Amino acid sequence: MTVNELIRKKRDGAALSPDELRYIVDGFVQGLIPEYQMSSFLMATFFRGMSVEETSTFTRLMLHSGEVIDLSGIPGVKVDKHSTGGVGDKISLPLAPIVAACGVPVPMISGHGLGHTGGTLDKLESIPGFTTSLSIAEYKKVIAEVGVVMIGQTKEIAPADKKMYALRDVTATVECIPLIAGSIMSKKLAEGSDALVLDVKTGRGAFMPTYERSLELATALVGIGNSFGKETIGFITDMNQPLGMMIGNWLEVVESVECLRGKNVSDIMELTYVLGGAMVMLGKKASSLKEGMERCNEVVKNGKAYEKLLQLVKRQGGDTSFIEHPEKYPQSKYSQKINCPQSGFVTAIDSLELGFTGIALGAGRTRVDDVIDPKAGIVLTKKVGDAVNAGDTVAILYTDNKNAIESSAKRIEKAFAIGPAKPKPSPLIISQVDKNGVKPFKI
Ligand code: URA
Repeated sequence: MTVNELIRKKRDGAALSPDELRYIVDGFVQGLIPEYQMSSFLMATFFRGMSVEETSTFTRLMLHSGEVIDLSGIPGVKVDKHSTGGVGDKISLPLAPIVAACGVPVPMISGHGLGHTGGTLDKLESIPGFTTSLSIAEYKKVIAEVGVVMIGQTKEIAPADKKMYALRDVTATVECIPLIAGSIMSKKLAEGSDALVLDVKTGRGAFMPTYERSLELATALVGIGNSFGKETIGFITDMNQPLGMMIGNWLEVVESVECLRGKNVSDIMELTYVLGGAMVMLGKKASSLKEGMERCNEVVKNGKAYEKLLQLVKRQGGDTSFIEHPEKYPQSKYSQKINCPQSGFVTAIDSLELGFTGIALGAGRTRVDDVIDPKAGIVLTKKVGDAVNAGDTVAILYTDNKNAIESSAKRIEKAFAIGPAKPKPSPLIISQVDKNGVKPFKI
């Protein structure tokens, strides 16, 4: 077997056997297959896809490229959630402490930003001192003590994904169902959770822009989760406009903290309560989704979720004074308001374009070794459906990169579509996929 042959086989549309896939995955992890050949294999897979059997084998190989953590010694049903990636998608930050405050342990292994989407790890790492690299022993200690732990893949956990994820990020090979499924599920199956909630994004800012492709992805992810013995529920949710008002790592931490302190950023809290309700239900602390949502709402209102976030940040080495006083955080060197050229209503906000603009401002990577500027990003002051007058500010950009300001401001202005009529509201949470199939979302 040579890598060249296997790349050609995939390029020409044939399915690879389990041994052939093992040769690729193990060879890449061991450094025997260089990045240029792996990039080529990823691109061939992007165009040719994988069969259900290949996807399942690929996920298993990625999972067993590292350790599978055993959390059975920790009481309770451990539940995690994962998003397929969006713009302004900071849901994990308020969600994990909320669910933990409801008494359901949340072991969470996340990734860095991928393509145009942000990553939970980059957001957490924007908190001064916060460490996302814990040993497995420490990971177990934190979940036992705090009820929630949030880390990235260590060299022990799904190392195949860690390496492949970084390569996919910069080789335009992200938007591919088997690669996403292997990536997400290898991390989630390795982390020791008993059940899983998946937020599968659809629309302009999602890796799967059409509902049909998102459903295909949700079905693949839920099928893999359940076949590995983890009860898995997926929700297909709208990513046509960014979630919340802030895009960028520290900005998204700030918005999440505000939500935990009781601010109702409506789309963030709607999604957080539904995903949280499902997690609390799977964690056996509520008998229905509705009851789970109510439990989540209570712990926000009584401050227990915010307390849990402070406990988590402190336990993972973060400086909680920045959470309590976000105004202490360093400011970007430059900011610029983007004003609306005409009056009317915001009819669309191109989240894909805003995701890429955020990267240009410094909030994401274009090369594997790029260093992120945690302060960089975009604050929206208008969302879809809002009325605007010509000259109103629709967004403000923040960056330390002077050269990025002019082109980014133009891109942001163009990302806002303005029309004469208020658009009809569309649902944020579209459908639910579980072991019984797919159904329109209803509480
Ligand atoms: N999230 C992941 O962890 N991996 C992907 O490929 C996409 C989203």
